[in-house]
Amino acid sequence: MTRLNWGMIGGGEGSQIGPAHRLGAQADGNFVLAAGALDVDAEKGRVYAQSLGVIADRAYANWQDMLEGEKNHPDRLDLITVATPNSTHFEITKAFLEAGFNVLCEKPMTMTVDQGEEIVRVAKASGKICAVNYCYSAYPMVRQMRQMVADGEIGKVRLIVTNFSHGHHGDATDADNPRVRWRYDPAMAGVSGQFADCGIHALHMASFIAGDEVRSLSADFASTIDSRVLEDDAMVNFRMEGGTVGRLWSSSVAIGRQHGFDIQVFGETGGMRWASEQPNQVFYTPVGGRTQIMEKGESGLSDEATRLSRVAIAHPEGFPLAVANIYVDLAAAIRGEQRDGLPLAEDGLRSMAAVYAAVDSAVQDGKWVDARPPSFR
Ligand code: NAI
Repeated sequence: MTRLNWGMIGGGEGSQIGPAHRLGAQADGNFVLAAGALDVDAEKGRVYAQSLGVIADRAYANWQDMLEGEKNHPDRLDLITVATPNSTHFEITKAFLEAGFNVLCEKPMTMTVDQGEEIVRVAKASGKICAVNYCYSAYPMVRQMRQMVADGEIGKVRLIVTNFSHGHHGDATDADNPRVRWRYDPAMAGVSGQFADCGIHALHMASFIAGDEVRSLSADFASTIDSRVLEDDAMVNFRMEGGTVGRLWSSSVAIGRQHGFDIQVFGETGGMRWASEQPNQVFYTPVGGRTQIMEKGESGLSDEATRLSRVAIAHPEGFPLAVANIYVDLAAAIRGEQRDGLPLAEDGLRSMAAVYAAVDSAVQDGKWVDARPPSFR
């Protein structure tokens, strides 16, 4: 099978998410990094791209030059990853979709709900794939939970409790660090800080595992560090279309919590628990029974959990290979296969609607509001 050509925007040297994309895209030999505009600093980006093997002509100073240089390139790019700060996602993703490229955009996909609706429209009109990097949904044991819910193994889902709370922005003396500051600056991050940054991963995960969508929510936001305009702590209650009750806490000032993403799904006949810091295991308890630990790589797991695991039982795979699973499914989709579970622009749009709903609710003292995008009502 020939390798697919891959281009990357953002994710430069020292960035948080860039390495996970490079490891993920190239882990299975599907993609080769052929072009990039990797850094807001043009020269730094060009030098770094070349150090990663990109030829000088395709190591661009910025994404506009990359679009110009690549749109009619004979060695066409099959996929563009957008891994820049949030405020740039919309225009870059839209421009590349309109030029006929498949795109994997980092979350949050856009800054507004209208932009999200537009990306969904543009992706449909272009016939190209627009995926959004909800990579946690691609952990094998998360797929296992999703399949168990779909198979009715815990009955109807009554309640989901999820946290994405870490403490890495809890040091007030570090609040002006440029890599921290943009996340709380409305011009760079949008209307929400922590909820749009991490909370939407948890909300997407709840929908993904439950096979249901969020209908309404009530939010309480707080900026615990005074200089922050946007919230660094959010508590969000939600209800799903099928009636499932949801509780979500997302914080960046929970000092002592490291990655801090976990989810518990409670059904009529059982409960399950998964945590990103222990991603090989699902704790499953049938009603009235003992807790069982299900382990990635063991026999009897769902086809998806088995397909998305590469190494033998008990060996950690972890975050870059969860991202790699997104790329595996993207490569398959680009080659024309159907892949269930790939997070798409519609998921990015739903998240944006939830972010705006949460902001709206928070300023109204937690009033319950509709969390669905207009086009899904
Ligand atoms: P960062 O601040 O660590 O790195 C951003 C990178 O983008 C830097 O290399 C910077 O030079 C480059 N950049 C900025 N503007 C650019 C432009 N106009 N053109 C080209 N390059 C540009 O940010 P981080 O944490 O890597 O976040 C980037 C995006 O990834 C954000 O949207 C964030 O929400 C998302 N993210 C997603 C994660 C996930 O689990 N899916 C985890 C971490 C971040």
